[in-house]
Amino acid sequence: MREITTVGVIGLGTMGAGIVEVFAKAGLSVVGVDGTPELAERGRGFLEASTGRAVAKGRLSEEDQAAVLGRVTWSHRLTDLAGADLVVEAVPERMEIKRDIFTTLDGIVREDAILASNTSSLSLTEIAAATAQPQRVIGMHFFNPAPVLALVEVITTLLTDDEVTGAVRELAVRLGKKPVVVGDRAGFVANALLITYLARAIRMYETGHVSREDIDAAGKVGIGLPMGPLTLADLIGLDVVKEVCDVLYAATHEPSAAPPALLQQLVTVGRLGRKTGQGFYAYEKPGSGVVT
Ligand code: 3HC
Repeated sequence: MREITTVGVIGLGTMGAGIVEVFAKAGLSVVGVDGTPELAERGRGFLEASTGRAVAKGRLSEEDQAAVLGRVTWSHRLTDLAGADLVVEAVPERMEIKRDIFTTLDGIVREDAILASNTSSLSLTEIAAATAQPQRVIGMHFFNPAPVLALVEVITTLLTDDEVTGAVRELAVRLGKKPVVVGDRAGFVANALLITYLARAIRMYETGHVSREDIDAAGKVGIGLPMGPLTLADLIGLDVVKEVCDVLYAATHEPSAAPPALLQQLVTVGRLGRKTGQGFYAYEKPGSGVVT
């Protein structure tokens, strides 16, 4: 396998921008792509802001920040990924969009390039089937916030080449992450464990016998997780939580995985959590973690 030195990231939302940061900090050359010049610029803004915060906290020197920013180029054209050794797709969780992108990439990237998806809920097998070479398709599932959380699920289909799996696993270690290799099943490992817990917390909140703050205190102070379940659902994005519930429920028919009514309604009215400024909590501004 070729050494992975240049990577492309498609989709520069919360996850995509975080993934760009992880690669650039590890010294790889990165091409960040989103659908329009404005969205590509927004991606650059996310990286500048995130590394700027690290400089302000004294965790990164200004020279290192400049080096990280200098490793990334921004584009709105998939054709700029022609030289990539690996492409990670992190666009919204819509199967038709992902399949379109993977089909298009077939005609752009080199024959030996690895095509990865950061999907949190969709079938990797279905995505892989959209390409002429499904053996080079793999899942590379990061956790939010990607620059902080160390887990990377490396998801394989029946067709994924062992060499591709080995290369992606090695790369994850180079990034300072902990890879776990998992077959293509609804929720993979981490979401299959987490999402029913989050759905349970939302159902408790619906019954009204305990406040959202006290549910979160139980999860954080009592169980010892870094944040309570409703705060975490707002961080992940309620649309993403609902999508993972839908997929898990469809696959298992376990009532505990069914999306609670309140979750569905919040998604319908566009209260998606931190990213829109309102979810279970209201935030100072969209994207901030500061509760008003
Ligand atoms: N980008 C970069 N760095 C960030 C960041 C971000 N978005 N958010 C926080 N950080 C950094 C901070 O700068 C800080 O760094 P420092 O200690 O070097 O100064 C460090 O992380 C800790 O942040 P804070 O001090 O602001 O706050 P906390 O100590 O409360 O940590 C947290 C924040 C890292 C978000 C922590 O609460 C946490 O780990 N929460 C759980 C998150 C989690 O479980 N995520 C997984 C969700 S599931 C998922 O993503 C899968 C998907 O498919 C659904």
